[in-house]
Amino acid sequence: MRSTLERTPALPSQGTVEPSAAASLVSADGIHVARSIFVDPAIYAAEKHLIFARSWLFLGHESQLPQPGDFLTTRLAETPVIVTRSRGGAIRAHVNSCSHRGLPVCRADLGNAHRFVCPYHGWTYDGDGALVAVPQERKVGRIDRSSLGLPAVPRIESYRGFLFGSLDAQIEPLADYLGDMRFYLDTYLDRFPGGIELVGPPQKWRLRANWKLPYENQLGDLGHASYLHGALFATNDAGRETEAHGFAMVPRAGHSASLRLMPEESTAEERAWGIEGVSAGMDPELLRYLLAVQAEAERRLGPLRARIKGLTLGIYPNLNFVWSNHALRVSHPCGPDETEIWTWLVLPKDAPDSIRRALRGQYNYVLGPGGIVEQEDSEAWAQQWIGSRSDYPQDRPYHYGLGAGQERPHPELPGMASGLFNEYYARAFYQRWRADMLRDERA
Ligand code: FES
Ligand SMILES: [Fe+2]
Repeated sequence: MRSTLERTPALPSQGTVEPSAAASLVSADGIHVARSIFVDPAIYAAEKHLIFARSWLFLGHESQLPQPGDFLTTRLAETPVIVTRSRGGAIRAHVNSCSHRGLPVCRADLGNAHRFVCPYHGWTYDGDGALVAVPQERKVGRIDRSSLGLPAVPRIESYRGFLFGSLDAQIEPLADYLGDMRFYLDTYLDRFPGGIELVGPPQKWRLRANWKLPYENQLGDLGHASYLHGALFATNDAGRETEAHGFAMVPRAGHSASLRLMPEESTAEERAWGIEGVSAGMDPELLRYLLAVQAEAERRLGPLRARIKGLTLGIYPNLNFVWSNHALRVSHPCGPDETEIWTWLVLPKDAPDSIRRALRGQYNYVLGPGGIVEQEDSEAWAQQWIGSRSDYPQDRPYHYGLGAGQERPHPELPGMASGLFNEYYARAFYQRWRADMLRDERA
């Protein structure tokens, strides 16, 4: 049967997208997704304006900025950003681009400084973004510095230490944006009374793949693990457990939490903190630690949340947390067909050093540039680039129809539940993408 999707129309490079154009890219039910949305420069330009400039995007974690003067650099899509803790303790975010000729005024990932000196001509800014020195003034006289500070990111909010920024001054509050994703984030965070921290600067690398592909995968594509990662998962306990108990929850379209809800009769060991291969070849000290955390969790989280073994979380549009491997990830867009992945190891603050080492080893084995799962996934996403550039995209939109209509509200957990091979998590994501791309700025 011929697809209802039409040939991709040209989109304007900024701002408004004609509803008829955007509506033809993703079917209303989210099942059919045009290949062009993964490679077309005009669609990417519209995404930057209609999605990235109007969403809450992850900036960093407060644990990275414990002291006045601490800073980190990041991006809001392709806009470079510097996040600082001021002398007074407030956290601020500014565009990291010199008002003179645009260079980033800070190029380090993390550090402590009260001044940022642009390397080109020495213009100097403080942690509040103010332009405080222009060396050339000594020769040519004063200029009006007050209007030449670094532009502030219009909105910045924190949810339990996770800092988000938005270029949209009118965006809804972060708590509303997250909605019931807070339930799943809390289920993770409440396990650790001492809190969590992001370790070091992020690992960064680039992929020839559209930003939506890694994000979508880590929303809840549990079905691929036994195939693409067959060598690792097809035969081990984690793979079997996921087959038996895994599913995805969508508390709000675009967000998702994939997890295993362990049976009420499961043992504490079976429920221990979402580590892949928990009972097979695990370091005995790490297992003891996880069991101790689980025993605490049963008290702190209550019987329902203590049965949740989180696998992946996704916060629209491009933040993932691979709970099972302690990896926080952002898929920074760098164009229609290039993505820069940033990944941090996340650790419980109060874990002993030996446990931190064990968890770091487990993270590196699976994810990051040297991780076996990462390499397999990266290859799949890059191979999708080949398929997305097919000359006949109008004839074969991608099919996200597995399990369509089988998703249901969960009796105990917030959101819509979809079983192991049901692609509802992705349909909901592309429906939200479609709605955002249909936003009419003139309204
Ligand atoms: S570009 Fe920054 S001082 Fe000239
Ligand atoms: Fe994978």
